[in-house]
Amino acid sequence: MSDRHVAIEAIVASHRTERGALLSILEAVQRTNEHNYLSKEELILVAKAMEVPLSTVYSVATFYAFFNLKPQGEHVITVCRGTACHTRGSKPLLQQVLKQLNLELDEEGTATTDDVRFTVHTVACFGQCALAPVIAIDSVIHSRVTEQKLTQLLQTLIQSKEVS
Ligand code: FES
Repeated sequence: MSDRHVAIEAIVASHRTERGALLSILEAVQRTNEHNYLSKEELILVAKAMEVPLSTVYSVATFYAFFNLKPQGEHVITVCRGTACHTRGSKPLLQQVLKQLNLELDEEGTATTDDVRFTVHTVACFGQCALAPVIAIDSVIHSRVTEQKLTQLLQTLIQSKEVS
């Protein structure tokens, strides 16, 4: 039995009697995954340990937006593509991020670099429209972002990874 298998069985055992256990279990499994996501193997292990159909586990994992089914980068950049941000130039900002990281968004509006250092997401609205355009970097909201400001933010981020 792998270490991950043992860890998942322990997570399931510690939540088994809770109401809504599956949600808590999936949260814990994602949180303890090195790349902050739920792999197919982990979903299978959760289903087996809970003795529920894989389809049940999969439907919860796909229903909630905070579950990731693909590896997430060490740094997560989220560009708002809502109307307020769009009218204030979020599209060129998104293009700037993708160009700098040499990425293309997939059909779900996300992309991760091959070295799993950076993930780019889009979001429909951060609820901060008065501060548009808005970009979050590692959960820190940056408001009224300009191309110049974004260049600085990306440079700082890229340099920080090179130092570490
Ligand atoms: S549209 Fe971007 S914060 Fe609302």
